[in-house]
Amino acid sequence: MKAVILRAPPSLDKLDIVELPPPPPPGPGEIQVRIRACSLNFHDLAVAVGALPVAPPRIPLSDAAGEVAAIGEGVEEFVAGDRVISTFFPTWHDGPPSRSASFAATPGDGVDGFAREIVNAPASWFTRQPRGFSHAEAAALPCAGVTAWRAIVVNGALKAGDSVLTQGAGGVSLFALQLAKAMGARVIATSSSEEKLSRLKALGADQVINYRSHPDWARLANAYTDGVGVDHVVDVGGAGTLEQSCAAARIGGHIHMIGLLGGPQGAVGPMHLLSKQLRISAVLVGNRRHQLDLVQALEATGVRPALDQDFPLDRLADALRRMQSGAHFGKITVSVAP
Ligand SMILES: NC(=O)c1ccc[n+]([C@@H]2O[C@H](COP(=O)([O-])OP(=O)(O)OC[C@H]3O[C@@H](n4cnc5c(N)ncnc54)[C@H](OP(=O)(O)O)[C@@H]3O)[C@@H](O)[C@H]2O)c1
Repeated sequence: MKAVILRAPPSLDKLDIVELPPPPPPGPGEIQVRIRACSLNFHDLAVAVGALPVAPPRIPLSDAAGEVAAIGEGVEEFVAGDRVISTFFPTWHDGPPSRSASFAATPGDGVDGFAREIVNAPASWFTRQPRGFSHAEAAALPCAGVTAWRAIVVNGALKAGDSVLTQGAGGVSLFALQLAKAMGARVIATSSSEEKLSRLKALGADQVINYRSHPDWARLANAYTDGVGVDHVVDVGGAGTLEQSCAAARIGGHIHMIGLLGGPQGAVGPMHLLSKQLRISAVLVGNRRHQLDLVQALEATGVRPALDQDFPLDRLADALRRMQSGAHFGKITVSVAP
């Protein structure tokens, strides 16, 4: 079978396509999955360029979709032919975060990932796909989709009529926009690109703001909410956005801390949080239960992921370069076994 291996020292030039022997029949409790598609997350780029240290050689990519090719003894949840998706934290099944919510267990990070045609893994590492989804659409869910769901729905208890501000046109932000709209919320979406702002409007954003031409974008978010501020901010910029996120939130609003695209260290002090009684929830993806709930919600709402470009497995480095360029809109996908 074909696989991609990241070699030391990690860089986009160290992703080798190799032939590996196919795995044996699945053991007790395992399923064998023929991987059809993967999707890229910022996390995969950070691993591939060495910004997140892993121990090469490592098979990259955390998010995959495919079909069950065979089941091991004792597996009851799946049968051969079922369409499945991976989970980002394979050993965090339910309940609050614990040590199982650790990158040490994440495919493509602490253990080998899914840039390969066939894999054997415990059945509990996978969930079913939403009915009617392509493998590429399903592969978009485990990291970006579950993160957006857990932030605004699980932690944020989003309700119809709430206002949500999303940042940029990346995977997490687009899921947050689409889920929030499907659940009756109002969305203000930001981007650095006028062309992407039009596409955000087409996806349902009620108002859009160019955060590059309006570095004080919180002022506009306040104006669009009659001076009140938004109920939820989906913050992917970290230090680069937190101050404006606090200024855009209403008194008692909720900031969902998700990404560090604008840097890890910033100047937001306790006064910013206290004066408006803000709630900050730091989110690291979610558990298997969250993913099952998201799958059901997507079936009920009809939301389909916004997909960007698709690349064949042997062009994984080019797919990651597209992510690095920031030109993408939504999820970049990789086709694996035909
Ligand atoms: N905590 C978690 O569980 C979790 C899960 C997934 C991702 N993340 C993190 O969340 C971030 C986004 O991940 P992703 O997979 O959605 O990435 P992505 O698809 O690569 O999104 C990147 C987009 O974010 C926007 N952006 C970049 N810098 C920005 C800034 N300073 N302020 C506002 N927007 C900015 C840009 O959109 P425009 O081109 O439209 O401006 C860019 O195209 C990353 O830091 C990632 O590590 C965290």
